[in-house]
Amino acid sequence: MRLTRKATAMALVSCMALSMTACGGSKPAETAAPTTAAATEAAKETEAATEAAKEAETTAAAAAEAAGGDMADKKVGISIYKFDDNFMTLYRTELERYMVEELGFKKENITIQDGKGDQAEQTNQIQNFIASGVDVMILNLVQSSSAPQVTDMCKDAGIPVVYINREPDVAEEERWASEGLQATYVGADARQSGTFQGEEIVETANKGDINGDGKVSYIMVQGDPENVDAQYRTEFSIKALTDAGIEVEELMLQRGDWDQAKGQQIVQDALTQFADKVEVVFCNNDAMALGALQAIDAAGRKVNEDIYLVGVDALTEAVQNVVDGKMTGTVFNDHFGQAQTAADMAVKYLNGEAVDPVNMVDYVKVTSENAAEILEKVK
Ligand code: GAL
Repeated sequence: MRLTRKATAMALVSCMALSMTACGGSKPAETAAPTTAAATEAAKETEAATEAAKEAETTAAAAAEAAGGDMADKKVGISIYKFDDNFMTLYRTELERYMVEELGFKKENITIQDGKGDQAEQTNQIQNFIASGVDVMILNLVQSSSAPQVTDMCKDAGIPVVYINREPDVAEEERWASEGLQATYVGADARQSGTFQGEEIVETANKGDINGDGKVSYIMVQGDPENVDAQYRTEFSIKALTDAGIEVEELMLQRGDWDQAKGQQIVQDALTQFADKVEVVFCNNDAMALGALQAIDAAGRKVNEDIYLVGVDALTEAVQNVVDGKMTGTVFNDHFGQAQTAADMAVKYLNGEAVDPVNMVDYVKVTSENAAEILEKVK
């Protein structure tokens, strides 16, 4: 696992230093009255936190040393396509943690902007990064089709750019190589995640054909169709079935834009319209699968008994659902590996090293067999 023990310890320490709300999200605040035992415990925790903080400083310094340069005065501009996205929130948290705790960047030199799902707004943020003289940018574009224009802006300003999560097209990636541009992409091959989702259905006892009519009838809940992730997951999940010689019937395909509420609405409508005909619900991500599960529960259907449900990302809640048999499977979209690779590529640019145009991190299939183990890694 790329989340090292040290990193886990550090994450815990920052949690102690911050409030429970900041780190635990929904966890309720501690309200117990202080006792002597509690005070001793608190003192021990503070001591452990100080120790770990010291260790972190040493680690960061050592990492910066190993990275070949001091990152402390480097300025980084990061823009995320929108903050209100479960997966990209995990990603951005890990990106910042890794850069500060393990690569020696200063938190105050890292600016992270919310693209708010608006390309014009994001382009504006990029222009501001250029004006403020950042040394490198890490960009999760709102529209991957704007990569050529953004790359040229960065090139004119002499600033290297690391694109993440939303992959620009192949022609653009080839242009970076042929023109020797300082631009690179870090992501994961969405064809692999789609294939894994399809395989999870093929691997069920009845190969997805619950009603035994010789074909798998499914609904597809798609992410934002501008994203390669949505296009490939839609295509390759079904391809895994047809490659296995299984006949398929698409009852409905609708865009849910990676959003839980939209996923819930789409599946609710589909179950009203097609009822028992629906055997499999494919969701391009877990947020939409969590919405789908709400609709499935409300309709009185039972996952793995009279309907199958798969997602992608391995959000903690989704992996827990796989453990509990409430989702058939998901696919781990390794935000630790992707965030760390993106930051490592930024460091390479800052050290004047060459960077490959495309850097892919593997997905991992998550089924009832390994869900408990994956849960340990992601929670
Ligand atoms: C995908 C991820 C989705 C969403 C999307 C944003 O890789 O599976 O949940 O975060 O990226 O572009």
